[in-house]
Amino acid sequence: MATLDLINLRKEFGTVVAVNNINLNVGDGEFLCFLGPSGCGKSTALRMVGGFEEPTSGDVQIDGASVVQMSPNRRPTAMVFQKFTLWPHMRVYDNIAFGLRLRRMPNGEIDKKVNGALEMVGLKAYGKRYPTQLSGGEQQRVALARAIVLEPKILLLDEPFSNLDALLRVRLREELRMIQRNIHITAIFVTHDQEEALSLADRIAVMNKGQIEQLDKPSQIYSSPRTLFVADFIGAMNILPATRAGDHVQIGERGLPAPDGLTNGPLTVAIRPEDIAIVPATSTNNGTWPGQITQLSDLGHYRKAFVDVAGIGALKLYLPKSTTVDEGDAVTLYPTRYLVYPQDKPPVEVKRTL
Ligand SMILES: Nc1ncnc2c1ncn2[C@@H]1O[C@H](COP(=O)(O)OP(=O)(O)OP(=O)(O)O)[C@@H](O)[C@H]1O
Ligand SMILES: [Mg+2]
Repeated sequence: MATLDLINLRKEFGTVVAVNNINLNVGDGEFLCFLGPSGCGKSTALRMVGGFEEPTSGDVQIDGASVVQMSPNRRPTAMVFQKFTLWPHMRVYDNIAFGLRLRRMPNGEIDKKVNGALEMVGLKAYGKRYPTQLSGGEQQRVALARAIVLEPKILLLDEPFSNLDALLRVRLREELRMIQRNIHITAIFVTHDQEEALSLADRIAVMNKGQIEQLDKPSQIYSSPRTLFVADFIGAMNILPATRAGDHVQIGERGLPAPDGLTNGPLTVAIRPEDIAIVPATSTNNGTWPGQITQLSDLGHYRKAFVDVAGIGALKLYLPKSTTVDEGDAVTLYPTRYLVYPQDKPPVEVKRTL
C-alpha cells in the first residue's frame, strides 16, 4: 500500500510562489504525471514529496502519515533525476548497492537485490562497468535500478528521459511503465512533454503557475480541457475569439450554433483539428464555412491541412488519409464538435452530426 496526499502544499522562494496551495490524492499503484510548461512548479512539487525542498506551508502525507519532518533518505520515496547523477568513480554495481549498504544490509542480500534490479532494467552484464562506459540511456536505466532497489513505496521521476533522443525516450518510458506495473509501485512522473504524459499516465495533473488546472485521465484531459490553458497546452487546438449573438456564437464574420445557457459577453471557441470535416459545397447545414486549402501535408495515417476561412483566418485540420483534396482547393468546412469557453467558467461542449 502506498497512497500520497498533498494538502494545501505551498512553496515560496522569496517573492516567487513556485507551488501555490495544491491538493492532490494519488492512489496505490497509480502512475500520475505532473505536466506543465517550464517554471510552473512541477519539480518543486516533486522535490517536496522527496524531501529535497521544505514546504512553506501545507503537508505531504504517505499512507496517511506526514513525512515533512523526515529527511529524504528516511522517506519511503526514491527519486530519479533528469541529469545523469551516477557516481562516476563507482562501478554500476556499487552505484546500485550504495543505498543498501547505507542500510547495513548483509552482502548476500545486497547481491541478490542488485542483480535483480540490473536484470529488471536489462543490464545484467553491466555491473562491472563505470558510468562513463555507458550510453545515456543505459545510465538512466542504472539510475532507475538504483531507485527501485531501495524498494520505495513511491517512485519519483523528474524528466528522467528528457536528455535522450526521441526513439530511446519512447522505449525507456514503455519499459518504465512495464516495470512500474510489475512491481506495483506508486509513481509520480514529471514532464513538460504532453505526448509522454498522455501515453504514460493513469491520471495527469496539468500545472500552470504553481497550481493544478486540471486533474483527470488522459482521455478526459484531451476531450474536455477544463480551462483554455489546458485546451491550448494539450494537443493541437484551433482557438478562436468569439462573442454570443442571439442563438449563435459569432466568430469573426462566421457563426456556429450557440449551446444553451450561455451568458452574454466575450467567449472563446476551441476546435480540435480532427473535429472539422470537409463537406460538399452544396451542404445547407447551418454553420458551414467556405475556405481554401493553403497547405497540405501527408503524415502517413492522416493528412494535415491549413485552410484559410474568409472572416476567420487560418484553421488547422486533421483529415482522414482518404480525403481527396489538394492545395488551392476551395472547400466547405463543418465543425462537428467544439467547446465554448465563457470567461472564468467551465466550457460547454457542442456536438453535431453531418
Ligand atoms: N531554489 C530556488 N530558488 C529560487 N527560485 C526557485 C528555486 N527553485 C525553483 N525556483 C522557481 O520556482 C518556479 C518553479 O520552478 P520549478 O523548477 O518547480 O519549475 P518546473 O515546472 O520544474 O520547470 P522546468 O520544466 O523548467 O523544469 C520557477 O519560477 C523557478 O524559477
Ligand atoms: Mg523541472
